Amino acid sequence: MNLVELRENVSMVVDEAVSMRRYLHQHPELSGAEENTRAYIDGRLKEWGIPHRVCSTNGGIVADVGTGEPCIALRADIDALPIEEKTGLAYASENPGIMHACGHDIHTAILLAVGKLLKQQEKQLNGTVRLLFQPAEETTGGAADMIKDGCLENPKVSAILGLHVAPTLPVGKAEFCVGTMNAAVTDFSLNVRGEGCHGAHPEQGVDSIVAAAQIVTALQSIVSRNIAPTTPGVVTIGTIHGGTKENIVADQVTMTGTIRALEPGTQKELKEAVARVAKNTAAAYGALVDVEMDDVCPALINDDRMLRRMLDLAEELLGRENAVRMNAPSLGADDFAFFSDQVPGCFFNIGTLGEVKDGQVLHSAVYAPEEGCIEVGITLMAGGVLELLQSM
Ligand code: NI
Repeated sequence: MNLVELRENVSMVVDEAVSMRRYLHQHPELSGAEENTRAYIDGRLKEWGIPHRVCSTNGGIVADVGTGEPCIALRADIDALPIEEKTGLAYASENPGIMHACGHDIHTAILLAVGKLLKQQEKQLNGTVRLLFQPAEETTGGAADMIKDGCLENPKVSAILGLHVAPTLPVGKAEFCVGTMNAAVTDFSLNVRGEGCHGAHPEQGVDSIVAAAQIVTALQSIVSRNIAPTTPGVVTIGTIHGGTKENIVADQVTMTGTIRALEPGTQKELKEAVARVAKNTAAAYGALVDVEMDDVCPALINDDRMLRRMLDLAEELLGRENAVRMNAPSLGADDFAFFSDQVPGCFFNIGTLGEVKDGQVLHSAVYAPEEGCIEVGITLMAGGVLELLQSM
């Protein structure tokens, strides 16, 4: 398929993709509870004769177009968020308190449309295009569960592409990041243990609230003093709970937080520093602390060759001015990183900023992506996978 044919084929599936997106938008489901979404994807794939299976680990869908090696995977996340939609759109969420506010409805519709398009050209395919419909991205872990179920095997997946909507980038543009694009994430909990007593007689106990307060303050020095000013890193305490009554010295405080870095070495350093500072600060106040660390997600690192190939292709398909280089990575995360940790991967953003400008950020109750992004996404995913199949 040359570029002219690609554009023609894309134009034939765009309208359907938009209506699929609206259906998905209207029927959002939370991470790990994507039953209706799964049934919808299953129905469409059946209708187009695309063979697929459901992962036993988490209900993700693995569909194949074409056969044999090389096998290139395309991934879309399918879950929504616990947000009450306030866009006022005709196709706004029908599920109270749940909204596709991170564009996963768009990602899913794009992948479905790419599947349909490629199925029509299946005879020309030189290998397999594997479509991965992934649940539970927002809660992180859906990708890992699909990998455990073997979604990167039989045939062996040799590369993977994925995309995300970008609310502040004008529609029509795509954005590419050389090297590390998203941070590695470690979540942690600190359980500070003191000794309860009457609030009027603090000398009889160990105040876990005072110790916890000092720990929160002391943790702030880690990023500013333990890693180089030129190296990005984050330590955030997100929750703190302790105490039962105004006149009781609390025996226990629980805090949770997140550590993020772009380099594995920095992540390790931050983790060690959080544990060290928490333990020793607690000790200074006569308290103890239990530290638990949970490595949630590796850093998302784009494969150099794939990224350059996709950037060239985007310049060709969208025009030079619309293929943008991201000038800085994000300390946010996307669990696409689990895939790109296993096989060479390329993740990129597509712009969704149109006439509506206010409140256009991810996870906003008024996020209303301009639907022109769907055509851009289908073009880049279909064009990209064809290009990769040819070059492998
Ligand atoms: Ni997202």
